[in-house]
Amino acid sequence: MERTRWYKDAFIYQIYPRSFCDSNGDGIGDLRGIISKLDYLKELGITCVWLSPCYKSPNDDNGYDISNYRDIMDEFGTLEDWDEMVKGMHDRGIKLVMDLVSNHTSDEHFWFQEAKKSRDNPYHDYYIWREGKGKNKKKVPNNWTSRFGGTAWEYNEATDEFYLHLFTRKQPDLNWDNPKVRKEIQDIVKYWLDRGCDGFRCDVITYISKEEGLPNGKFNPFACGDEHFTHGPHIHEYLHELNVKVLSNYDCMTVGEGPGVNVDTGLLYTDESRRELDTVFSFEHVEVDTIMQALPKKFNLAKLKRIFEKYQHGLRGKGWNSLFFENHDQPRSLPRFTGDYGDKHDEAAKMLAMALYMMQGTPYVYEGQELGMTNYPFKSLDEFEDVLVRYVIDVIDKIKVIPWAKKVALKVFQKRARDHGRTPMQWDDSENAGFTVGKPWLAVNPNYKEINAKKEMADENSVWHFYKKLIAYRLGNPIIINGNFRQYYPSSKDVFCYEREYEGKKLFVIANFKNKYVPFRMPKEFVGKQGKVVLQNYADDPGLCDRILKPYEAVVYEL
Ligand code: NOJ
Repeated sequence: MERTRWYKDAFIYQIYPRSFCDSNGDGIGDLRGIISKLDYLKELGITCVWLSPCYKSPNDDNGYDISNYRDIMDEFGTLEDWDEMVKGMHDRGIKLVMDLVSNHTSDEHFWFQEAKKSRDNPYHDYYIWREGKGKNKKKVPNNWTSRFGGTAWEYNEATDEFYLHLFTRKQPDLNWDNPKVRKEIQDIVKYWLDRGCDGFRCDVITYISKEEGLPNGKFNPFACGDEHFTHGPHIHEYLHELNVKVLSNYDCMTVGEGPGVNVDTGLLYTDESRRELDTVFSFEHVEVDTIMQALPKKFNLAKLKRIFEKYQHGLRGKGWNSLFFENHDQPRSLPRFTGDYGDKHDEAAKMLAMALYMMQGTPYVYEGQELGMTNYPFKSLDEFEDVLVRYVIDVIDKIKVIPWAKKVALKVFQKRARDHGRTPMQWDDSENAGFTVGKPWLAVNPNYKEINAKKEMADENSVWHFYKKLIAYRLGNPIIINGNFRQYYPSSKDVFCYEREYEGKKLFVIANFKNKYVPFRMPKEFVGKQGKVVLQNYADDPGLCDRILKPYEAVVYEL
């Protein structure tokens, strides 16, 4: 099977099914809701969908806890709906990338239900078990913590052991060192590829191989143990095996979710000659405004640009990059990277798109980003749904910590909570933004009367139309796909400015990230050249010369 590497010239749209479109009024998005919006996706011009998990799940972590990999979650529909959905996508020239959650299952998965019964159960070794420490063996086996807080170990009475869960206690980690587990995952991947999907986004794939002996991790107030399970000892061997045995027989793509990935490790995963993954999501750029990936800190554009540049150069010609600002785990990029945009919402949203999507790598747009959907104005901790927030509230309540702890938590989550990216898609200005006729599982952003698909599709100057134009411009464009990258003014805290060049043709991008006027000196080599404006967020362009950039002004020239 020839692998065409179609993902190098794709535009991928991420759907978080719970929040996309509800067809049956239960307040939860579903597959028939997605089917009803396929023409919308086609019209926007995207060429592939990444669908967050839609498998059977008790929803402790909204589907990232799978209890049956070969069936569809009750709230989302049936396998027949899935077949119809994928056919509808393919008929419209849209591919489908599924979410492969293989670091852990749900504790309600049949394998775990069996595994926990006894130490000699045939499924016991599908998971990671250790005896407790201390005289009566009731102390946790090591100091690793769950990514959602607290110890990563849960005691199991029947076997008098603890099992490892790097996420909630309802998400036990699979033991990839067991060849039977690897075979199960290979079979699941094959099952969906044969059924018609075109690839996988591989959830926390960098965590699947744990260091032998599971040693204690260095102290870290938010997450202990990373260094012993990120890029673990057998990770490359296991991914290579999956590639050779299954993936390489299909013209599919994989993108690994890569906590802890940097340029060097990114290359190891995506170097074509190594045959592991095709692309990765690294997170350095979205951690730029965080302290230890958890607490918010001020956004610094110069830092963000340094990270972009590092990846643009580092992966070029060897591996393959991904371009994203948003997903279901991130707050919205507005106002995160733009600050308070006041009455410049549309200019800010378009600027971010130009700054990001003219670089090399596979571009991802997250549902609602094409409308400029924004963070939700959360006022109290009770409004959050995310398991991570619920955990923190629980701890604060249990140990009755200092009274202001809840206030601090609220401040942190107002900036960083994953719920910001999960509020229902804003389709129109009817009740619940047209997402559901029932009660939405998570509140709709009150700004839906101004920011919604129907309104924006009717307005040629909207953010939606801008995305449509940008997507059409980007697809098939050899400069964007292949060109090299050169940054100008890297230390500027206001402007991101770069050039792409391929076979004598250039793109030149200027993006003012600030809601203020910023003087801009045109680099010498461009002054007076005849550049054609291909994308811009203000109508009047003075050409390639020195100028004062307007708030959030951005422009892309072709020369
Ligand atoms: C990463 C997913 O994106 C996130 O939503 C989930 O909670 C964890 N992995 C655990 O599966």
